[in-house]
Amino acid sequence: MSEVLLLNGPNLGILGRREPEIYGTETLADIERAVGEEVAGRGWRVVARQHDCEGLMIRTIQDSYETVGAIVNPGALMIAGWSLRDALANYPRPWLEVHLSNVWARESFRHDSVLAPLAAGVIVGLGALGYRLAARALVATVP
Ligand code: DQA
Repeated sequence: MSEVLLLNGPNLGILGRREPEIYGTETLADIERAVGEEVAGRGWRVVARQHDCEGLMIRTIQDSYETVGAIVNPGALMIAGWSLRDALANYPRPWLEVHLSNVWARESFRHDSVLAPLAAGVIVGLGALGYRLAARALVATVP
């Protein structure tokens, strides 16, 4: 069965309890389930991973070259995660960057992503719905 990688970075394992006024009340388990629903129609399965450490995210990407595509919320590693960027540069499939919050409406240090230029697309500010939309984008665009 084909697999989609859903990779979440630092501080995203506590969604639901993390600044809910910014990130919403849905948990990461809710999001993983939602993405699974979106891709099930294509017969794909979700492999969901969350790491607070950049190195573990990199290892996950290196171990996921057989997946059909990926959805990545890098958290604050968007700002200066150069090693994560290098890992994504070698990921052979399309991937989308997702942020729950509208990073451009927030502090200026969140306005740049070193990863986004490599992404097939970027979705910000739509909360947990953004993950569903990213999943739909993969479903619609991956051959
Ligand atoms: C985030 C936005 C980042 O700036 C922040 O560091 C996060 C979450 C988001 O999903 O909105 O950890 O990626």
